Amino acid sequence: MSDDIKKGLMGVIVDETSISKVMPEINSLTYRGYAAQDLCANCNFEEVAYLILNKELPNKKQLLKFVKQERNERKLSKTLLNVIKEMPKKSHPMDVARTAVSVMGLEDKETTDNSPDANLRKTMRIFAKTPVALAAFYRLRKGKKIISPKKNLSFAENFFYMCFGKVPQKDIVKAFDVSLILYAEHSFNVSTFTARTITSSLSDIHGAITGAIASLKGPLHGGANEEVMHMMNKIKRPENALKWINNALENKSVVMGFGHRVYKSGDSRVPTMREYFGKVAKIKKDKKFEKIYDIVEKVMIDRKNIHPNVDYPTGPTYHLMGFDTDFFTPIFVISRIIGWSAHIIEQHATNKLIRPLAAYNGSHYRKVSQIKDR
Ligand code: SDX
Repeated sequence: MSDDIKKGLMGVIVDETSISKVMPEINSLTYRGYAAQDLCANCNFEEVAYLILNKELPNKKQLLKFVKQERNERKLSKTLLNVIKEMPKKSHPMDVARTAVSVMGLEDKETTDNSPDANLRKTMRIFAKTPVALAAFYRLRKGKKIISPKKNLSFAENFFYMCFGKVPQKDIVKAFDVSLILYAEHSFNVSTFTARTITSSLSDIHGAITGAIASLKGPLHGGANEEVMHMMNKIKRPENALKWINNALENKSVVMGFGHRVYKSGDSRVPTMREYFGKVAKIKKDKKFEKIYDIVEKVMIDRKNIHPNVDYPTGPTYHLMGFDTDFFTPIFVISRIIGWSAHIIEQHATNKLIRPLAAYNGSHYRKVSQIKDR
């Protein structure tokens, strides 16, 4: 293959963005210039969502308005609720999320308006309704009654409430909120690039987010947090971990939750999420997954110099919180809607159709023969 071909667009800079950057000087992911760890320590998810969408942290009044807008948009239409009720119970919740956003696009009065203001309004609707749609499916497939959202609960609290009927203690909610902050945005990852590519034909935000959800589902991207849990369940006990990971490496298997296209010496989000995973494990009095986590991580770093990515600690954290494994990537969705939306708005503002070239390696020119001669 020619050196001119940048397979997987590896190392190719395709555009500019002002939304986020991994800053080597502070070894951190930054949103609009603020370190993600700093935001986790000092803000809640709604403040960070506001920052990513509006370029500045909100003051009290701006935050109140934003929070109110989100809470007022939570209600689902009858049509969307009926679509969710009719979905096969075995559907993957990522497909439920994808379909729900697509249905929202059919119903939204502003679907074809790609102005920044309309896109912000549509973002709020998609952001507020997607968790409600997912939680409704979570309950329905277990044969339980849907729980309506509550306006006096934060984004994170409300998600727990709609899934489980109660809000857990505040340290658990904080750990969940932190995971949402860390998942909210990560520059030109594959799902965001998908969203920007769809947007570049001047298509609409619902279509772009629908495509982004499909892209996030794959196990090389967001789907990895579910795969991490499947791996930990296969390992079962800390005593099995060393043998399991050594075998996996002998067999040249891809170990989920490790490696990253951009980070080569560690994902800057991992230490923060690892800390909160530890807090949740302590509250739940269940250290088994932490032990497995540490053993597998040590071998991957010692033998392969491959470090964990953010999906490695979020997987077992969500498990300990009580979520079904196939809901881990949908949780990533409810957060990343913010990053995708900011990128869609940025793409519209500075749009150039995304259309790369390919080196052709197919047949030489040939003539069509008559069907009787083929
Ligand atoms: C996310 O881009 C983003 O920002 C994404 C994300 C976000 O916030 O949006 O950070 C979220 O998607 C995190 C990534 C989740 N995916 C996984 O955990 C799946 C497992 N990881 C890998 O498959 C892999 O590391 C990727 C897909 C994440 C990155 O792939 P690259 O950059 O194409 O690298 P590669 O697969 O070509 O690997 C390079 C080498 C190979 O060895 P060699 O052939 O050179 O000898 O590293 C090895 C790989 O075999 N390698 C691994 C490995 N990851 C890389 N070997 C074993 N297990 C792994 N996980």
